[in-house]
Amino acid sequence: MARPKIALIGAGQIGGTLAHLAAMKELGDVVLFDIAEGTPEGKALDIAESGPVEGFDAALKGTQSYSDIAGADVCIVTAGVPRKPGMSRDDLLGINLKVMKSVGEGIRDHAPDAFVICITNPLDAMVWALREYSGLPHEKVCGMAGVLDSARFRHFLSLEFGVSMRDVSAFVLGGHGDTMVPLVRYSTVAGIPLPDLIKMGWTTQEKLDAIVQRTRDGGAEIVGLLKTGSAFYAPATSAIEMAEAYLKDQKRVLPCAAYVDGALGLDGMYVGVPTVIGAGGVERIIDIKMTKDEQAMFDGSVNAVQGLLDACKGIDSSLQ
Ligand code: APR
Repeated sequence: MARPKIALIGAGQIGGTLAHLAAMKELGDVVLFDIAEGTPEGKALDIAESGPVEGFDAALKGTQSYSDIAGADVCIVTAGVPRKPGMSRDDLLGINLKVMKSVGEGIRDHAPDAFVICITNPLDAMVWALREYSGLPHEKVCGMAGVLDSARFRHFLSLEFGVSMRDVSAFVLGGHGDTMVPLVRYSTVAGIPLPDLIKMGWTTQEKLDAIVQRTRDGGAEIVGLLKTGSAFYAPATSAIEMAEAYLKDQKRVLPCAAYVDGALGLDGMYVGVPTVIGAGGVERIIDIKMTKDEQAMFDGSVNAVQGLLDACKGIDSSLQ
């Protein structure tokens, strides 16, 4: 059986890291597409040359031609521009919307059967636009945000508790931005919910509130340190986890920006929710019941995403 084909649209910092991870994990053959001549070719060759040392079997190719992504099983989209210090994700909207149009049309014409994972920011608006421009089924187009936001939350919690990151699970909902909703009630250490850990004296409400805020600001913290771009290692790993869930039909329960129509009181929009990812793409949305406070935070996040969608429609009237 032929190896799966993974197309990476955008061969910048995240795209290159995605290619490296996909090859090392032998998820399939990799095509790196970018408009910058030489960048995808150079990265593909460099990673391929690590193959004999690492001992992986994967073909890598760099290209400026959409025809090379033909028949891709998975497309991961990072094309666009990242943030600089002082910018919010929303500041990227106008420029990255145009990029989503060309990428969406490229995928529509050359890889319409792919499972598409969008990483380009502002995420919730860009994944929606990418779906609109590509015309692919909603369950085959999703955005990577929740796995990353949860991973950041888990990392900070593991530092606070002095336990392995593997034993910390976290639950983050809502848009990928300042309004994201980390659900402490559903976040646990080895199954013990965070509110119980406060009662057990493992931490305090104040410390937990600070960790939640650091999670919300997690992307900005990295931008502030790097100064020339945004995070790429953790975003790439998070998207690879989603791609692997699809390719191996793992039925993983992963938070991602998915199209929600009916669940959580939503009426057809992309936002971060817990999902099941398997061979069908986003196979299920987990319709959790929220408390009043959680619902209020989630509603605020949904409104922020809706504002971005309206801004997209203002820029491109074909998006309605
Ligand atoms: N088609 C294909 N590639 C494009 C296009 C386009 N229309 N426009 C830009 N690119 C490419 C750039 O040439 C660059 O190589 O997208 C790549 C983006 O890479 P980086 O600038 O290194 O950005 P990266 O850190 O990878 O982040 C990409 O993900 O997390 C988000 O906010 C981040 O929107 C940003 C995206």
